Amino acid sequence: MKHLLSIADLSADDIHRLLELTDHMVEISGRPIPKVPALRGKNVVSLFFEDSTRTRTSFDTAAKRLSADTMNFAVSSSSVSKGESLRDTIETIAAMGVDAFVVRHRSSGAPEMITRWTNASIINAGDGWHQHPTQALLDCYTIRTGLNRRDGFDGLRIAIVGDIRHSRVARSNVQAFAALGAHVTLVAPPTLLPPSLEGWPVEISHDLDALLPELDVIYLLRVQRERMEEALLPSLHEYSLLYGLTEARAARLAPHALVMHPGPMNRGVEMVADPGELPGSVILNQVTNGVAVRMAVLFWLLGSGADLSEAP
Ligand code: CP
Repeated sequence: MKHLLSIADLSADDIHRLLELTDHMVEISGRPIPKVPALRGKNVVSLFFEDSTRTRTSFDTAAKRLSADTMNFAVSSSSVSKGESLRDTIETIAAMGVDAFVVRHRSSGAPEMITRWTNASIINAGDGWHQHPTQALLDCYTIRTGLNRRDGFDGLRIAIVGDIRHSRVARSNVQAFAALGAHVTLVAPPTLLPPSLEGWPVEISHDLDALLPELDVIYLLRVQRERMEEALLPSLHEYSLLYGLTEARAARLAPHALVMHPGPMNRGVEMVADPGELPGSVILNQVTNGVAVRMAVLFWLLGSGADLSEAP
């Protein structure tokens, strides 16, 4: 496989093998010197046309731990501000010798389009409302370790709560969680659901409180005010009253249940309780696991031999 554009590119077996490879990357990351020569001589370029804290820095760290060379492209100080097109930008940077582009773009489909203009591997780091496949993989890894589910998610009940409509994380995670066998419920006001859910392997609920005691994982999404072109919510306060994770709601979760959020979070909106005070919160584990998962993806796409069973 040359590119990672969507979770739909992966079979359930592929996801399992990437998560097993991530175990090796976690081991490497725990060494006193967390660095191996697996990708020496490879050049990984981060092209972020949208802001990012976690994804950008974790890909950069992952590439460095595998000894790849890295180049960070800052859109605001590039010739994009002079009107250079996406295609010209890609072809220009590719001419310097690039093995992989890690791409975030506000337009759904931009990473797929870029595959036509370069021979480098393209990794989708989030495109519009469409996909964020490495987020889904790191979330699967966090659940797999947090609930000791190495063999899959059969029987697990996962609720994804909030702004499903604008969420590439929801689209990726539903596919990944369902591929591993989980039962997924989307919980949101009707205005924050996609116009059509045909083909989504999910149930829908508008009643978070009724679901709480049954859940193994509650996955909160950020309310994406910047992507809302119309008033889809009466007010953030009302949203928070019905769907925000308060301390009282968290107390009704099963003791083993995990609380997850991809970040960045709106405190006081979808996350009312202090996540640092919630025993089930694995939000910072998600961030930590993001580095190892992205090491696995880079090794999988760029590693010589490209056999997933070959840990570096
Ligand atoms: N979860 C996520 O994609 O976060 P960033 O926008 O900080 O990369």
